[in-house]
Amino acid sequence: MYNFDEKVNRRNTNSLKWDLNGRSFGNEDAVSMWVADMDFKVSPHIIDEMQKVMDEGIFGYRITPKAYYDSIINWMGRRHNYKVEREWICYVPNVVAGLAFAVQAVSDIGDEVIVQTPVYGPFFEVVKNNGRKLIECPMKNEDGYYTMDLKAFEESITPRTKATILCNPHNPTGRVWSKKELQDFAEICLKYNIFIISDDIHSELIMKEHEHTFISTLSEEIANKCIVCTSPAKAFNLASIHVANCIIKDEEVRKRFKKPMLNAHLFGGNAFVAAALIGAYDKSELWLDELMEYIEGNVDYFVNYINNEIPRLKVHKPEGTYLMWVDCTDLNMSPEELNEFMINKCNVILNKGITFGEPGKYFVRFNLGCNRQQIKDVLKVIKEQIELL
Ligand SMILES: Cc1ncc(COP(=O)(O)O)c(C=O)c1O
Repeated sequence: MYNFDEKVNRRNTNSLKWDLNGRSFGNEDAVSMWVADMDFKVSPHIIDEMQKVMDEGIFGYRITPKAYYDSIINWMGRRHNYKVEREWICYVPNVVAGLAFAVQAVSDIGDEVIVQTPVYGPFFEVVKNNGRKLIECPMKNEDGYYTMDLKAFEESITPRTKATILCNPHNPTGRVWSKKELQDFAEICLKYNIFIISDDIHSELIMKEHEHTFISTLSEEIANKCIVCTSPAKAFNLASIHVANCIIKDEEVRKRFKKPMLNAHLFGGNAFVAAALIGAYDKSELWLDELMEYIEGNVDYFVNYINNEIPRLKVHKPEGTYLMWVDCTDLNMSPEELNEFMINKCNVILNKGITFGEPGKYFVRFNLGCNRQQIKDVLKVIKEQIELL
């Protein structure tokens, strides 16, 4: 049994999540529940693998071992029933870099790329910063349960549309798309010859009653029109290790995808990348199962508390991720007022909903990758402060 209740103090560790409180948010003492990494120590098996590299004491140029690719192939096969071949795997330092290279590989400057909102903010940046035109297509929201608006999606397609970025599981709504939803979505993409860039970084963080499907497993035809972006970083808490892999079946697309990395002489990760990935995928499956049980407990606590104690907030239990998408419309605050209220009155730093696109204007996103006591303490303060309004 791993202990996820342990309180780990991350202040003064150069943590992006905890060490910008004063400088960026103006409240040094606030509790940080924003950026999506977890406050849990990683699996001890990952540390063991990394320690072996540390003990070698030489950090000269390295090659990526066969064991790295075997580990990914075995994990995808065992855990996801996804048959991946060695040649399809392209290392990238992080998933967002993979999304940017993917956009470059399957579209030209001036082409259109569709994203369904609300969605993880850097999706907008990788489209716009690469000179492509961003098309935002809002999803349907029925009482906090989000579905793709495929009619609107199809209507937003033009002859300049070359790609779409899919978030599966979906950040911030927590949807784990069903096979049927993915199939219907993919059929439209195939009909109009649109490439699917699928961000599956949250694919290991799935609640008990749900199952993750990689869209590329639905058919050969779909797999040929996909770039699938994966990483052990989210589930195993390895964001600063810089380990991610894009899986690309089509050889021509793969060549184009690899170009920016090769042109910059970026051939592989740092000394710890392979050890961390192998420690995660090969040795830490049990740790992950226990983590998900703990996270689902956090999520259930959070949802019940909001429903019973803070009726002015609305939340729907996510099917995956450790993120909670909370509707604060009933507080009648502007996005700036809402942010200020959470930081200065409730003493908690959250992600502003507006950064996920216009439909997120009156929402905040909580990160529940932390010990349960912290969630209890924060919710109690929020309840008190909302009752004072
Ligand atoms: C959907 C999604 N993609 C990508 C990332 C970031 O991944 P990376 O740090 O590997 O670029 C996140 C982080 O929260 C995310 O939620």
